[in-house]
Amino acid sequence: MEPVKLDDFEPAAEAILPKGVFDYIAGGAEDEATLRGNRQAFARYQFRFKILASADQPDLTSEVLGQRFRMPVHLAPTAIQRMAHPDGEAAAYQAASDAGVAFCLSTLSSLSIEEVAAAGKGVRWFQLYMHPERAISASFVERALDAGYGAILLTVDLPLAGRRERDIRNVFSLPDGVSYANLAGRRTRVTAAGLDPFAQDVNAETHPGLNWGDLEWLTKKTSLPVIVKGVVRADDARHAVDAGARGILVSNHGGRQLDYAIASLDALPELVDAVGKAVPVLMDGGVRRGTDVIKALCLGASGVLLGRPYLYALAVGGADGVRRMLAMLRDELEVSMTLLGVKTLSELSKDLLVRISD
Ligand code: FNR
Ligand code: LAC
Repeated sequence: MEPVKLDDFEPAAEAILPKGVFDYIAGGAEDEATLRGNRQAFARYQFRFKILASADQPDLTSEVLGQRFRMPVHLAPTAIQRMAHPDGEAAAYQAASDAGVAFCLSTLSSLSIEEVAAAGKGVRWFQLYMHPERAISASFVERALDAGYGAILLTVDLPLAGRRERDIRNVFSLPDGVSYANLAGRRTRVTAAGLDPFAQDVNAETHPGLNWGDLEWLTKKTSLPVIVKGVVRADDARHAVDAGARGILVSNHGGRQLDYAIASLDALPELVDAVGKAVPVLMDGGVRRGTDVIKALCLGASGVLLGRPYLYALAVGGADGVRRMLAMLRDELEVSMTLLGVKTLSELSKDLLVRISD
């Protein structure tokens, strides 16, 4: 069946991908409560729509850190995309470039910082996992700057990998023919009983003692704006801005890290209140519909990121699959803005929403 909405790509991808790969993408930590919670949070908001507002052909353009976008939806950093499709990150980046949105490249990508940069012309941001050795992190950041990446997303919700039990059961490991392209052959596994090999790779590349000093070091080290990814508390958001962060990404890593973490959408309003006047506040986790994007923007987000949906679209159709998926979301956004009675994103506000009780 031809996909007509983002969620249709999931079963289509499941039919194509090896079980271990599909489970790695689809799964979350432990009980997967946060994975479900991210979606449930969107369903609790309903629209108080406006009428007779002449809101046809709404303007979806947006701006983050002085960079202009054709819609407020970007592609989140996700690891080793060549396991979803042979063209991997290059294809996803091309689709993002064509749609006029940002592509975020993971530290654990399967094509290198430089290879991906050469594949498109659009805005690209680099996601950093802080390595225990600062010299290694410093070299990633320099390579990203040299290769024209416009921001660093520092992921702070993964000092170590969460317990993803599907991966543990599947003994998930890097598929044959796919490698961590930025790591120069480095693959030093910490042998921890019971953990899948992939989680052990992740733990070898991340700094378990990640701390505020690391963020301060990074913001001083680089001329690129640093966006902190994985914040859910107002005090942490303020601290991050004081430490030099130029943006906040509200995220619980798509429910893959601390289970029972608050849903991203539920954390968003408090963070917007805390730092939204000083820096852009983005969010990810569970965005699957144009109406989801609108709800996040009504609550003060400057934009949202998608994770799993584009990996499924990539698996199904490479760059074309991701283009189709982004076009679908754009269509949904346009129709929903018109029906909501709102012509520009800057008019979206809490006044348009009501939160129903649980
Ligand atoms: C991720 N995510 C992630 N985040 C990050 O900072 N670095 C990474 O390498 C990865 N890798 C990764 C792999 C896969 C398969 C998934 C699904 C996710 C988290 C990602 O950036 C984002 O926060 C979530 O995916 C957002 O939730 P949704 O859209 O998947 O619900
Ligand atoms: C993940 C890590 C790599 O979520 O970010 O799989």
